[in-house]
Amino acid sequence: MCGIVGYVGGRGATDVLLGGLKRLEYRGYDSAGLALVEGQKLHILKGTGKVRDLEQSVYAQWDAGFRDGARMGIAHTRWATHGSPTAENAHPHTDQTGHLAMVHNGIIENYVALRTQLKAKGHMFASQTDSEVLIHLIGELYKGNLFEAVSAALKHVEGTYGIAVVSANEPDQMVVARKGSPLVIGLGENETIVASDVSAIIAHTRQVIFLDDDDVAVLTAQGADIRNLHNIPVSREVAQVDWDVGAAEKGGFEHFMLKEIFEQPEALENTLRGRLDEAMGTAILSGLSLSPRELAGIRRLVIVACGTSLNAGMVGKYYFEELADLPTEVEQAAEYRYRNPIIQPDDMVIAISQSGETADTLAAVREAKQRGALVVGLCNVVGSTIARETGRGVYLHAGPEIGVASTKAFTCQLAVLLMMALKIGRCRRLSRQRGSEICEEIRQIPALVRSVLKRNDEIIAVAGEYAKVRDFFFLGRGCMYPVALEGALKLKEISYIHAEGYHAAELKHGPIALLDDQVPVMALMNDLAGREKMVSNVQECRARNAPVVGVITEGDDSAAQHVNGVIHVPRCSRLTAPIPTVVALQLFAYHVARIRGCPIDQPRNLAKSVTVE
Ligand code: M6R
Repeated sequence: MCGIVGYVGGRGATDVLLGGLKRLEYRGYDSAGLALVEGQKLHILKGTGKVRDLEQSVYAQWDAGFRDGARMGIAHTRWATHGSPTAENAHPHTDQTGHLAMVHNGIIENYVALRTQLKAKGHMFASQTDSEVLIHLIGELYKGNLFEAVSAALKHVEGTYGIAVVSANEPDQMVVARKGSPLVIGLGENETIVASDVSAIIAHTRQVIFLDDDDVAVLTAQGADIRNLHNIPVSREVAQVDWDVGAAEKGGFEHFMLKEIFEQPEALENTLRGRLDEAMGTAILSGLSLSPRELAGIRRLVIVACGTSLNAGMVGKYYFEELADLPTEVEQAAEYRYRNPIIQPDDMVIAISQSGETADTLAAVREAKQRGALVVGLCNVVGSTIARETGRGVYLHAGPEIGVASTKAFTCQLAVLLMMALKIGRCRRLSRQRGSEICEEIRQIPALVRSVLKRNDEIIAVAGEYAKVRDFFFLGRGCMYPVALEGALKLKEISYIHAEGYHAAELKHGPIALLDDQVPVMALMNDLAGREKMVSNVQECRARNAPVVGVITEGDDSAAQHVNGVIHVPRCSRLTAPIPTVVALQLFAYHVARIRGCPIDQPRNLAKSVTVE
């Protein structure tokens, strides 16, 4: 996720900006840059790599007098979304005159249309980013008052933004604005700092203002004048932040994993943004670069992935078979190249990988390409090896995932797979009306996840009862079966409890021998189609004295009678149900691990990105 820092005040801006960027490094980034305003001049340095590389360039290229003399500046760490990680795409971006500079966090959805209009007026663009289009629009509207130009430009923008903008013509003030992407203003003595989160601010002041959507503020050394887009003053509370730096990086959460679990509604909104077309009952996934005719011609899908991404692929199989009538195989990527994988002319291979760097998935991509398959990537990290080597696909836009246990990437993967199945289905036999209904179901996903997060206390209570066990079974049917696998994976990797995910019907074929009063079972009973059979499976477990926690649909009181403990999830469609369900299981695993005192963000023996076979 991109990070923003801005400074205006009575001391040298450079050190404050570089220090702030270092504090934001934990958010993940691929390039960094800063712009200083000194006198009526704007100086910009940016490039790929780390903040320390930027710092070295600053020290090598800018003398001490200048570094200390500049009293205002903006800085940025970029996590690529539009355009690969290159120096040209790094922020700050400038307008066509080179006098205005801006850093941006978020996504400008209508940037293609805006760029076309601006090009017609003679604007030339140096990057592939959506952000550069916005600063050009601001430049186009600039008539000597930066606040007015920014407010006017933002009225034309669809999408999300947190921005900080400076003008060489107005060296004592910067303009910041937010919609959807967080911005915090720090009020110091004779200085004002703005940043994406408080971790970049608290070394300087603990008096902060959290901006709301549609706020536009003029920052000077004396403070912040906050207005709305229509130039009407708004009043925002000044808060006192007591967090230490570690807590600030985690947004006040105890662990990155918990922060990322709670970020899921927003991450999912970013994944869905601009991709649903209710009127046509389809999804817009331009990165696939395949025509409706080509999508209609696909005869078989093969999904390759590892770990959590593999579990997402297994849910995807249900989606593709149900909505697109497409035979779908899900393969452990590690096995793919050691068999004789058959690729036929109309097969499509989908490689799923959060990091885009997993060695086994990458090897499967190369094998499939060598055999002539059409390969698409489903990655979170823009410009990652798998994204580059597939050359086509869909980005998750989930933001960087720092906790080793994958959470928000999984739910965003499911959202993308559902949209892909919808899109391919609409090119085949799915009706427009059914497509529109599915679009509406998909739109509900962030709200469904919010409703599970509100039940955190209920889940903490259940976790408290089972935190001491040695073994756990997770059972599901239909597309809740891979969700059970994912729930078990989450629990084992962060709590070190031995956990097994099983299809509920498979239990009787062996594992039931392990059940007794010391081996609890998590039964996913909220898939309505399989509900009665799950009730029978639960009774089989109870008959062996195994305690059962039921994940049940809100209001399904009769299911609650069959179990010892309950986790409620909201009523929703069969297609979307895996997402709120897995969020409940993520919280359960998290709280069990926390109660057991485990190192949740860096579990033993695990790495975030597995780049060896
Ligand atoms: O980056 P990838 O999605 O390719 O990673 C695959 C697995 O290594 C990853 O999902 C792993 O299983 C996680 N630790 C699960 O939480």
